[in-house]
Amino acid sequence: MELDRGPAPAASTEPVLEVVDLVTEIRSVRGPIRPVNRVSLRVGRGQAVGLVGESGSGKSMTAFSIMRLFPTPAARVVEGRVLLQGRDLTELPESELRRVRGNHVGMVFQDPSAYLNPVITVGAQIAEQLLAHNWPGDVEQRIAELLTQVGLRPEVAKRYPHELSGGMRQRVSIASAIACDPPLVLADEPTTALDVTVQAQILELLAQLQRKQGMGLLLITHDFGIVAELCDYVYIMYAGEVIEEGPVDDVFEQPRHPYTQGLLQGVLSVTRRDRVRVTVPGSVPDLANPPSGCRFHPRCPRAMPQCRTAPPPRVTAGNGRTACWLYESDQGIGQQRPGGSHDRTNDGSAAS
Ligand SMILES: Nc1ncnc2c1ncn2[C@@H]1O[C@H](COP(=O)(O)OP(=O)(O)O)[C@@H](O)[C@H]1O
Ligand SMILES: [Mg+2]
Repeated sequence: MELDRGPAPAASTEPVLEVVDLVTEIRSVRGPIRPVNRVSLRVGRGQAVGLVGESGSGKSMTAFSIMRLFPTPAARVVEGRVLLQGRDLTELPESELRRVRGNHVGMVFQDPSAYLNPVITVGAQIAEQLLAHNWPGDVEQRIAELLTQVGLRPEVAKRYPHELSGGMRQRVSIASAIACDPPLVLADEPTTALDVTVQAQILELLAQLQRKQGMGLLLITHDFGIVAELCDYVYIMYAGEVIEEGPVDDVFEQPRHPYTQGLLQGVLSVTRRDRVRVTVPGSVPDLANPPSGCRFHPRCPRAMPQCRTAPPPRVTAGNGRTACWLYESDQGIGQQRPGGSHDRTNDGSAAS
């Protein structure tokens, strides 16, 4: 499947979401762990942004931290800011945050069944969402419109979740996520649980909605192939940290971080997206006891002595950034590449 991603928005695109140095801590019997460790990212209005990394790298925790909706009461945001259209969500009381969820941020998860109530009809669930956020128009009409938008017949409103296929259920959860026309949608592995053909349809739908309605989309996935099809900009996460970021085309063409290089070798060496292999040997480290220095050094084929002792510097690389000692002496590497001379890092900061 080839999706037309359209032109990449300019770096000056007004941000809908800005996450700055976010730190989330989980208290565990083995001491505190930080599944989100100084994560910064940005989604512009109408921009599709990918967050990718192996399972266990902290992608879902990042999404939960943005909405402060944790699967465990032991987790909390301890540092950093989450700006939604300029408003800092970390400072909002729970009551106000509830209004933000759904109204200003739509959420789509891996398993729609877990979020759909089995005993009420599809229409009633979407109505709940609309009524909770005081939808000003006609609710019945809006439900029909939403179902049509996600490629379902309006009659589906009368059905119960168990009467629908997995793909249809995910369409319903997307309808519910976009019900109040949020400027931002967080989608966490929205197609992982679906058959390959249905996956493609759901991705096509998300891409269409994102483009037509100008929503910002933060798409979380372990699958680089999906990012390549859908996203303009990508952040790569490893062991709770963003280790590389950049425009998708640039990262594909010239990945800088050895971890990204490994992930991409896995993607590029297979043709079918559902059979992506991770070719970085080893696994994500135990976050209760993370490696010293660069968290990736025990698996890195290019590790140097300083990688074991000190955290890597964040270096501007072409139109993106990477956190790696390899590029320490190369501030601003890659800027002279043909066509790569203009700055496109996602916060519009000058490449220095
Ligand atoms: N419910 C939980 N309780 C304790 N630790 C958790 C919980 N969920 C996640 N973690 C920790 O957070 C890390 C990141 O998890 P997660 O964000 O789910 O990763 P990803 O979505 O990238 O697969 C895990 O490796 C684990 O250490
Ligand atoms: Mg996850």
